[in-house]
Amino acid sequence: MDAMTSQVPATTDLADPHFWRLPAPARAAAFAELRRRPAPVYFGDRATGRGFHALVRHADVVEASRTPAVFLSGPGVTTPEPARWVRLLFGDSMVNLDDPRHAQLRRIVSRAFTPRLLARAEEDIRRTAARLVDEVERRRPEDFVAAVAAELPFQVICTMMGIPERPRRAILDQVNHASEHTGVARPLRRRVRMPGRGLLALARMQGMVAAIGRERRRTPADDLITALVTADVDGRRLTGRELGAFFSLLLVAGVETTRNALAHGLHLLTVHPEQRALLLADLDGRLGGAVDEIIRHATPIIQFRRTLAVDHELGGPGGPLLRAGEKVALFFGSANQDETVFPDPDAFDITRTPNPHLGFGGGGPHYCLGAHLARQEMSVLFRELFTRLPEVRSVGEPDLVPSSFDHRIRGLRFTF
Ligand code: HEM
Repeated sequence: MDAMTSQVPATTDLADPHFWRLPAPARAAAFAELRRRPAPVYFGDRATGRGFHALVRHADVVEASRTPAVFLSGPGVTTPEPARWVRLLFGDSMVNLDDPRHAQLRRIVSRAFTPRLLARAEEDIRRTAARLVDEVERRRPEDFVAAVAAELPFQVICTMMGIPERPRRAILDQVNHASEHTGVARPLRRRVRMPGRGLLALARMQGMVAAIGRERRRTPADDLITALVTADVDGRRLTGRELGAFFSLLLVAGVETTRNALAHGLHLLTVHPEQRALLLADLDGRLGGAVDEIIRHATPIIQFRRTLAVDHELGGPGGPLLRAGEKVALFFGSANQDETVFPDPDAFDITRTPNPHLGFGGGGPHYCLGAHLARQEMSVLFRELFTRLPEVRSVGEPDLVPSSFDHRIRGLRFTF
């Protein structure tokens, strides 16, 4: 069977930035309709290869994630592809690599995430969360994102890496600048893109980190940068360029995602008072379930792309044919709404069991490296908040940034 290029309502063009500006219920309805189709719909011009098959069902996203020899990451995982010069200049981060280079890099990085480092990170998360809540009580800020949600994951990654206090503020400014434009739908531009404006910011930040890496090679410290630049896995350690690329990845993959998850979490627990009451009645018993349901419901990363290495029939022989060289977009948020896997998928239900959401990816070699850390950060912060400020709530609607890449919240007013 050939994959369908079929007719979908004109408003459902996932390749068009306008689609990502539609109200959330309209987008959800479009994805529900796409999930009911017998085959993935192709968006764009299939004849020229400018476009992608939209994988919107849970099973299809899992299959693509766990068949990395067929579904390649090497050509790039964002849409559209970064220009070649960008990759030459910045080096490849591990999301954009396939085996054997991906496995090699991931081994170096995974070895650096030792149990000791993670135990220290947990202590640091507790300390930082307590300090942020102290500051909330003292300064009574209005925006939860700037005061708490963005701050916690950033400080945690910086401490873990061993970034000194002094350049942190400048680095955070560069990150905000770089990521503000990722996948943002502009009304007058046809493509959802990652424009060059953020690249200079990234380059500056990578320069700062490479300099710290050189310093650590001379004078090792007890931190992740030292572990990465001195690691000797299969005779390899990270080069300055790889270190810069990895740090950028951590900042975008680890800070932005967690910040958005925390902000969505506070809002979800505000607009679902019965779920909030359940959680507060048994924080120890319910926090883990609440964190995963927040990730499922909010799905901080909307989509990643893969490219077909060979022709492939999706779901097995006789399934829709995806051709070598074609692109597929893995829509994690749609998979997390798949009614064949999640009964009543719209409901925010912290008791949902099982909850096999794909918020951290569909499994396979690229599965989120920071899933454990992210869950820890969310649990510790929500415990601290709800224990010390039991009246904490979001106020009004979150200030959402339209994007095809992440469910970003620019600001969220709150009260306690
Ligand atoms: C709620 C927070 C987070 C969410 C929703 C999230 C989501 C994701 C997703 C969807 C992927 C792609 C998986 C795939 O393609 O199969 C990914 C990869 C990754 N994440 Fe996370 N992430 C979060 C937090 C973090 C944190 C805290 C870190 C920092 C340690 C991190 C580091 C990474 C890295 C390094 C990768 C690339 C792994 C590879 O390509 O091998 N993430 N994440």
